[in-house]
Amino acid sequence: VSEPFSMVIFGATGDLAKRKLFPALFSLYMNNLLPDAFRIVGVGRTQRTHEQFRQAVRDSVEQFARIKVTDEASWQQFIKNFTYAIADVKNPEGYSEIKSLIEGFESHHDVPTNRLFYLAIAPDLFATVSHNIKVNGLANTKGYKRLIIEKPIGHDYASAKEIDEQIKRTFSEKEIYRIDHYLGKEMVQNINVIRFANSIFEPLWNHHYIECVQITASETVGVEERAAYYDHAGALRDMVQNHLLQMLMMVCMEPPSRLKTEAIHDEKIKVLRSLRQYSEAEVGKYVVRGQYQAGVLNGKDTPAYRDEKNVDSASQTETFVAAKLFVDNLRWAGVPFYVRTGKRMGAKATEIVIQFKEMPKNLYFNKNNDLGPNLLVITINPDEGIHMVLNTKKPGSDNQIIPIAMEFCNNCEQGTPEAYESLIHDAIIGDQTFFTHWEEVSLAWEFIDPIRRAWDQNLYPLDFYESGSWGPESAHRLLAEEGHQWWPVT
Ligand code: BG6
Repeated sequence: VSEPFSMVIFGATGDLAKRKLFPALFSLYMNNLLPDAFRIVGVGRTQRTHEQFRQAVRDSVEQFARIKVTDEASWQQFIKNFTYAIADVKNPEGYSEIKSLIEGFESHHDVPTNRLFYLAIAPDLFATVSHNIKVNGLANTKGYKRLIIEKPIGHDYASAKEIDEQIKRTFSEKEIYRIDHYLGKEMVQNINVIRFANSIFEPLWNHHYIECVQITASETVGVEERAAYYDHAGALRDMVQNHLLQMLMMVCMEPPSRLKTEAIHDEKIKVLRSLRQYSEAEVGKYVVRGQYQAGVLNGKDTPAYRDEKNVDSASQTETFVAAKLFVDNLRWAGVPFYVRTGKRMGAKATEIVIQFKEMPKNLYFNKNNDLGPNLLVITINPDEGIHMVLNTKKPGSDNQIIPIAMEFCNNCEQGTPEAYESLIHDAIIGDQTFFTHWEEVSLAWEFIDPIRRAWDQNLYPLDFYESGSWGPESAHRLLAEEGHQWWPVT
């Protein structure tokens, strides 16, 4: 269990706090992962009493938490640590109440000044808030101070760099915890273990034995209530710049020298340095974009993206991206990495498929006269697990071959922690391993920027796909050109 701390949550009346942060804190508490003394200061623009705030936390836990409230006594023990401060975060004068709530806690319990600042607010406020934290003396701590921020960090390299420079006037790199919640997912963290704790995979994990890799993050939801953000962001910035490239780094990185944060970050950063950059002139060959049209999902009619609330009726925003990527180093030379993500697709699924090369000579054939490849499938969400597709003899047949799956399910017997539980816990204990380093963010933007520019100039078409489908035709052509196909998600 960690030392006592205070956590200031800016944006405590917002969606992220409600859906993810309060439920995660409650799970940590119920799993005895929080210290006896801690203080949560929720900060918002709306007037609320401490009591009203605590009730809002209760509602959020009841609606969204993995672990439910079963006894009132533990709930009271938990919630008494929550207080609320109203503040206009842009106004430096608004911070005095936050300060007195924290200092009151620290002196009452005689605990070290360990402070976490969680910015669950729009990124254009990151610089202002970290500046105001400094001018108010909140950052003068004898213990630690840490800043937790969410993606998107900027909308391109230049804006991300500016934010980074500004927050670094108050916090150093070692004090900045940039959340990419995919890195908090159990099975994303498991990629390293599968690779580096099993002697059967590592020898095969290279261009000699791997034909291609496919990374899918598909969603059935549409833009929902987020058009104001999403119609400017698009899937490239929303999903590819962060989550998909993070999964790519986990699959491609070299074994770290030790299981230490710096060693792991170094290896991940090297992957992005080896990632082949596409010029605006090359984008059309390797990256496709799509936008959903009306369709039927789970038996319900759904509207086209352009007909969604608050979306421009001529919007060129992509809700789908597929790309063929190459990591130009000795391990991965020539191996295509196909990534795709989209809204309103056929299923909600995040998974990684490693497709192995075929046997040098086929002695056996299935009924289509070919031998299917071996696959290692890492399922991340909603099912968590791994399975391997192997070829075996069809029972009773004359050497006919069928594929079978050897399966392991990670979340079948008991629920696994939510991404935010492990990430908040890591921030409290000071483990930055599963947070993104500034160099990862900046290199990812440098890869993304030319693609964005090519699309903004409309150098390549925006393709359309029916809601409930697996993206536009062009996404299938991208693989067919190499003699590959997308494996259906499991
Ligand atoms: C977020 C994106 O980062 O990830 C959303 O902003 C997306 O658009 C979400 O829906 C997907 O996360 P998950 O955990 O549901 O796969």
